[in-house]
Amino acid sequence: MRYQENLADYSPLKEDFQGPKPFVKWVGGKRQLLPEIEKRLPSIMNTYFEPFIGGGAVMWSLDKSRLNSIVINDYNSELANLYEVVKKDVFALAEDLKIHENTSEYYYEIRKLDRSDAFQKLSPVQRASRFIYLNKTGYNGLYRVNSKGQNNVPFGRYKNPNIVDSSNLVACSAFLSDVKILNGDFENIKNMIGRDDFVYLDPPYVPLTATSNFTGYTKNGFDADMQVRLRDFCNYINDKGANFMLSNSSAPMIYDLYEGYNIHEVMANRAVNCKASGRGKIKELLITNY
Ligand SMILES: C[S@@+](CC[C@H](N)C(=O)[O-])C[C@H]1O[C@@H](n2cnc3c(N)ncnc32)[C@H](O)[C@@H]1O
Repeated sequence: MRYQENLADYSPLKEDFQGPKPFVKWVGGKRQLLPEIEKRLPSIMNTYFEPFIGGGAVMWSLDKSRLNSIVINDYNSELANLYEVVKKDVFALAEDLKIHENTSEYYYEIRKLDRSDAFQKLSPVQRASRFIYLNKTGYNGLYRVNSKGQNNVPFGRYKNPNIVDSSNLVACSAFLSDVKILNGDFENIKNMIGRDDFVYLDPPYVPLTATSNFTGYTKNGFDADMQVRLRDFCNYINDKGANFMLSNSSAPMIYDLYEGYNIHEVMANRAVNCKASGRGKIKELLITNY
């Protein structure tokens, strides 16, 4: 009964609802590149894999009737926990999100929970709620941790952050009901890939300049050796008879690594960036084996 009441409260059908969309702001989010990505999706997708899910902009845009199943993965364990909670316990999450306050004092109290044993005592729902709260009220929607894995994003000072977007969370929960969620390295999906599957890969990008800092996603930076390992993984996908699309920067290394595949140059408007001077149109690459 409680479930039914909640469902009526939060039903996406109540409003002019646009369908599920990312429930976190994510650096490198692909929402504004979606038209370029969508027009290049393969016509056949058996299972859809997204091993660097982040905010999941591409997955949320999929027409599920075109596929058999979806498998997602991310290295960030707090993010993977959030997806699990949205999938399995969305109403408890929506309720917990209501307790948060958009003040600097409260923000830093919640942020510092991962600096003590208190963090281990949080339930998965509380961890997910903390994650959304910090993401919506922290500076620029960044996810950044120090070498000890402790969040160190400053308070964002937003006037009216949308912390509790229940309608969207419920729509995302329905979408995720049969989605397999994994947490770990991108090679986690290796043994699941077969003929006619499709893998969309959106890794941390190769920096365009030596000063760009792209190590902030996880405790472990995604360095040049990782980019080579990722290319080898793409070769593996190709050998399996599956299709892949990979996003990356237009750094010379990417042209070299993916020589022999189809390299599409697209213009992206990079909105989340630490420096205002770093905003604007920038060339990025979409690489496909089909
Ligand atoms: C560019 S973001 C993905 C953005 C996403 N496509 C979106 O639209 O929001 C890259 C993601 O890769 C994850 N990641 C970093 N290293 C990884 C690894 N070795 N294996 C899997 N995921 C990793 C990060 O946690 C981050 O969420």
